[in-house]
Amino acid sequence: MALVGPVCILAVAYFVLRALFNKDTTSRPYFKWASRLFSEETPQYPQKEGQLRLLNRQDVEAFNESTWQRQCYDAFQTAILSEDPVAFPCIYATKGFKAREHRYIFIESDDMSDDKNMKVMATALKKYLETPHSELGPNTSMVVLFPIPTSPLSVKDYYQKYWDCLRGLRARDPKPWPGQIPTDTDTPMWRMCFDGQPIFSAALTPGHSKRRSRYAPCFCIVFQPNFVFDILFSTQLKKQSAISKVRTLLSDYDDVAVSPELKNYGDETGRECKQYFIMDDNYAPACPYTTLG
Ligand SMILES: *[C@@H]1O[C@H](CO)[C@@H](O)[C@H](O)[C@H]1NC(C)=O
Ligand SMILES: *[C@@H]1O[C@H](CO)[C@@H](O)[C@H](O)[C@H]1NC(C)=O
Repeated sequence: MALVGPVCILAVAYFVLRALFNKDTTSRPYFKWASRLFSEETPQYPQKEGQLRLLNRQDVEAFNESTWQRQCYDAFQTAILSEDPVAFPCIYATKGFKAREHRYIFIESDDMSDDKNMKVMATALKKYLETPHSELGPNTSMVVLFPIPTSPLSVKDYYQKYWDCLRGLRARDPKPWPGQIPTDTDTPMWRMCFDGQPIFSAALTPGHSKRRSRYAPCFCIVFQPNFVFDILFSTQLKKQSAISKVRTLLSDYDDVAVSPELKNYGDETGRECKQYFIMDDNYAPACPYTTLG
């Protein structure tokens, strides 16, 4: 299952407006509209958990086109709906998007050392994982979107930010790490866990170029609950067919060979952490953290 997962990085979703929680944002054009997203008056930061709402496609598409959130979402959408020269390889992400199963959250800056950013993300992820599967749909993802940068960072810098994000989430995880999953990232059975459950994660960045399947004009971090893969890989036949479909698309879509790190979860030589954030070239550095704590 690990194989399609990473590929499915592409699978996606999203949410929130940190900006909305700051009083000084009242002058921004989107404020008036955005405040309608929240039934109560503008929440103060740190917001209470109950006030944070995951956005669905309808919510996001109600943003005025001039807002950064909408521009970011449009860029994300263009990336995953691309058909050039073949369909965007994570066809399940595309399906989930079209079926309105993704949930979105917007984070105003990609500063992972900012406690406010991390708290919003952790709260959102917890909410998302607690949402009944039937409410989300079989090809769901939670998509975290950051503003489109004027000058993108290098892939290496995004890599570090990505891992700082996972570590920051773990530091705010309300539940203990599940006993059956190793905490050492350099083992075949390690995977990201949050709120007591294993999840898949991936990133698209503005720094990627050859690996187009991992490119988006805005930095996006995606999370997928395990049930998505349980459905997708419910039989060996389905699993083989899903994996080979995605692989074929990847090799036609990317200007770099399919990553040798894409392996089945549990494979002795596989490292799930190397499938989350895939570099632009086929070079896979060790996870910067031996454990997320
Ligand atoms: C979007 O915002 C711009 C600038 O504030 C405004 O002129 C325009 O009418 C808005 N569009 C919609 C559809 O509300
Ligand atoms: C979800 O993806 C599966 C493939 O895993 C597909 O067969 C199904 O049609 C998709 N569901 C929706 C609602 O798009």
